[in-house]
Amino acid sequence: EGRGTDGNAPPHAVTFQLAHTDGAARRGVLRTPHGDVQTPAFMPVGTLGTVKGVTIDQLRATGAHMVLGNTYHLALRPGDETVERLGGLHRFMGWDGPILTDSGGFQVFSLSDRMTIDERGARFRSHLDGALIDLTPERAVEIQQRLGSDVAMVLDHVVALPGEPGVVAEAMRRSLRWAHRCQQAADRPDQSLFAIVQGGLDESLRRESAEGLAAMGFAGYAIGGLSVGEAPELMYRAIEATEPFLPADRPRYLMGVGRPEDLVEAVARGVDMFDCVMPTRNGRNALAFTAQGPVRLRNARWAEDRGPLEAGCPCPACRHSRGYLRHLFQSGEMLGPILVSIHNLSYYQRLMADMRTAIEAGRFSEFYDGWSRQLADGAA
Ligand code: GUN
Ligand code: ZN
Repeated sequence: EGRGTDGNAPPHAVTFQLAHTDGAARRGVLRTPHGDVQTPAFMPVGTLGTVKGVTIDQLRATGAHMVLGNTYHLALRPGDETVERLGGLHRFMGWDGPILTDSGGFQVFSLSDRMTIDERGARFRSHLDGALIDLTPERAVEIQQRLGSDVAMVLDHVVALPGEPGVVAEAMRRSLRWAHRCQQAADRPDQSLFAIVQGGLDESLRRESAEGLAAMGFAGYAIGGLSVGEAPELMYRAIEATEPFLPADRPRYLMGVGRPEDLVEAVARGVDMFDCVMPTRNGRNALAFTAQGPVRLRNARWAEDRGPLEAGCPCPACRHSRGYLRHLFQSGEMLGPILVSIHNLSYYQRLMADMRTAIEAGRFSEFYDGWSRQLADGAA
């Protein structure tokens, strides 16, 4: 159990149990030192040790099982040593459930100034104060070990899409070498390391990446480098090009994705885990997700609307009318962003729970058809 294809390697702290499959869709449980995560799972993003605008009790009430934290942000502020001295990330943020930390690979490329990258690692200027920072695979592991997350991610080299073929291939191969260095550096017995498949939109590069990482034997496998502006169909094809080459007994995590329809499409293709800022970032900007599609609460059509955001939603935002929620945003009241963030997180968690139920019952394709029809009706 949990040893899978790794031969005599020590057991992983985080293991995965596949309970049901329905077509390519999978229903499982991720077991971590801080509790179980039912999959397919959506992880809210708590970049800086907080899911923006949401208390820990509110977060739990949305149905979230696992949250994501960021190496890059927490290492810059307050610093990984400070978080360690304050008891580790679980204690620091007050969340005693499972935590996954991203390695910083993606943030270095999207947030930092004057980044240079070579075989050793990435060197860049902090987006906060311009300080020179060195992020090597070994340092990314050290930071995540100090944070004490249940799942740490390998440092990867992410490139913009569409990229020059040679550049995408070289970044993917460097990511393989870095994944190996992360694996060598990782020695916290209560933490597992997940690998990250790269290779852009090229099917043969995706395969080479997945096979190379699978041969190293990780506790889980992420699909990275996607949802960076490419067409959704191309993202789905990159997932299909990757999955046959990942070990079936390990969790598959699609990083930074996505819209509700992307989650449904990816679960249909065998993805087990997701994270995305969309429910919280959009919630702060007055965009609410519902089964009938997104609702823009700043729109004047809701000014005197008595109905809830979504009938039947048990979240605290849905005790109010759309007219009231719109008023909060128009008035710049902080409760508006808070309530709609909570609603969106609840919506995402209900979507995941509905998919889990459908897979268990062997009815995922009926779920998929019904869900697509409801979305199309809402848009009509
Ligand atoms: N978040 C979204 N995409 C990625 C990726 O490709 N790599 C990492 N490390 N984090 C991500
Ligand atoms: Zn709601």
